[in-house]
Amino acid sequence: MLSGLLDLARSALLTLDPEDAHELTLKSLERGIYPRDARGDRPELGVDLWGLHFPNPLAIAAGFDKDARVFDAVLGMGCGFAEVGTTTPRPQPGNPRPRIVRLLQDHAIINRLGFNNQGHAAALQRLKARPRRGIVAVNIGANKDSADRTADYVAGIETFYDVASLFTINISSPNTPGLRDLQAPAALDELLSRVMAARAKCEAAGKPRRPIVVKIAPDIAAEDIGAICDRIVAHGADGIAVSNTTLARPRLKDAKANEPGGLSGRPLHHRATVMLARVYQATRGSVPLIGIGGIDSGPSALDKIEAGASLLQLYTGLIYEGSGLIGRIKSHLAEAATRRGVTAIGALTGSKAAEWADKDVEGV
Ligand code: FNR
Repeated sequence: MLSGLLDLARSALLTLDPEDAHELTLKSLERGIYPRDARGDRPELGVDLWGLHFPNPLAIAAGFDKDARVFDAVLGMGCGFAEVGTTTPRPQPGNPRPRIVRLLQDHAIINRLGFNNQGHAAALQRLKARPRRGIVAVNIGANKDSADRTADYVAGIETFYDVASLFTINISSPNTPGLRDLQAPAALDELLSRVMAARAKCEAAGKPRRPIVVKIAPDIAAEDIGAICDRIVAHGADGIAVSNTTLARPRLKDAKANEPGGLSGRPLHHRATVMLARVYQATRGSVPLIGIGGIDSGPSALDKIEAGASLLQLYTGLIYEGSGLIGRIKSHLAEAATRRGVTAIGALTGSKAAEWADKDVEGV
């Protein structure tokens, strides 16, 4: 009943300005108006990583809940974990509107938000008040006008250490000029040394070790993937999230295809999955990967697992398919595990990595 209503609401939402639609969705979740997943998850969907038990591998990706307003609702809707952010130390308005464009024909979005968010203090306050249940990742970034961007990430670790189940270091948004330069070897070394030192300080003070995942772009050249992954692993990062939005415009039909910003949704799936498989091969399975980009069905989620993901995130698919997508993906994954005779979905991680890694990233 409620999901039927929400489907109606979804069609209506698609006629509104994208940002207004997003705000309306957040307000509805804040008020508790969403379909609750009361069934619980099938045991084959459980994933144990970093000392955490994920009841299922699926979450809504960063950018949906930038200011930590609705992570509890995200968990209540049946996600295995939630992610808040990207949050920056100081509040910032982001780029001028309009800055989210729907490519209806392509089931895609182009966004150029530029880390609009209320800043660390606002997110921290909400996270502190949170009920102590469920896994909540905090995605941290840097202010656009920051003199020392690395210091912003260090501040993120220090500020959220007691409330984050894990951290995502976002160095892959295309909408903060120069941010992706942090993926270059020297910058990455400096960033990760200081971030890891900040964590080590917390651990030395007797706090638990929080996993740190680095989120990368899908636009890294094939020849650079190995070096970047080696550095991420060498510094002691616990995982890699592949990927953020792309600057590429792979064969889009919609007239708005050339709007500036990062592309997400169905046309990103191929590129991001090929990248994921290449990262899986480069890291030889040594750190778990989060597969993101263009998941909008059960099969497209299974592709990510087979290409090398242990956990999954989606955002744009939810806009086009509605919240029922979460349950459909989970059923598909559980059935795939049964069909293949494995007791846990994680047994399928990387089973088609070689096949995916060999594909042309352009999809031609
Ligand atoms: C994003 N994404 C994003 N990622 C991130 O690390 N921090 C952020 O603040 C945001 N913000 C954001 C806003 C909007 C409107 C979109 C559509 C996306 C990227 C997101 O987390 C994800 O990596 C990509 O969207 C690819 O996944 P989907 O959307 O194809 O499932």
